[in-house]
Amino acid sequence: MAAPPESPDAEYAALAENYDRDWAEYNRATADRTLRVLRNRTSQPGRTLDVGCGTGVMLQDLAEHGANAVGLDRSAEMLAAARNRLRRTPLVRSDAAALPFPDETFDAAVTNSALHYADDPAACVRELARVVRPGGVVVWTDWDGGALTTRGVLLWLRITRRPLGRTLTASAMAEALGDAGLNDVRVERWRHGLLWGLATASGRKPG
Ligand SMILES: C[S@@+](CC[C@H](N)C(=O)[O-])C[C@H]1O[C@@H](n2cnc3c(N)ncnc32)[C@H](O)[C@@H]1O
Repeated sequence: MAAPPESPDAEYAALAENYDRDWAEYNRATADRTLRVLRNRTSQPGRTLDVGCGTGVMLQDLAEHGANAVGLDRSAEMLAAARNRLRRTPLVRSDAAALPFPDETFDAAVTNSALHYADDPAACVRELARVVRPGGVVVWTDWDGGALTTRGVLLWLRITRRPLGRTLTASAMAEALGDAGLNDVRVERWRHGLLWGLATASGRKPG
């Protein structure tokens, strides 16, 4: 019988030390895209939660742009790397599927390349929508499960028994935001390099 896949936590415990070096270009591209969409949809970044913040690349950008940013991640090792980068930003170890914040705590919630580890990304999106205030914005960048090259990557990850949850297509990401009660949902499909077909979906909480 094939060995069960590693958990994301074990994977990121191993990756954390060299994560910034190994994924620098990809992380820059995804953070830039998410922040561009966030800026297009909000005048002030305000209180902003980064779910699956990893080593804090985008948190640093948010802090430099005047946001009152909070990072959340499951991985102790990724959060330790984020703490080295950011001395003052609040960092919370928790799961995207059950955010430890009251309703309407934040002006915005953002997430990059994290929800495809969840078995139910739509449930995580409902959590992001829950913790955003009326009029607040959710921006979600992730692999586009409908992109041919991304499907190839997913196949390879499954064959090699790497941790994976569900990767949604760009249109399913948009639908999940709508189902979470967000309005004015938009989605951009885009590419990074030859390999990565990505999507950035965003929506606004009514009110
Ligand atoms: C590919 S890294 C992306 C990190 C960061 N967002 C970035 O763009 O550099 C995925 C991150 O999501 C975190 N993660 C995966 N599943 C999670 C979950 N259910 N709740 C919170 N964090 C999660 C992992 O620990 C890891 O730090």
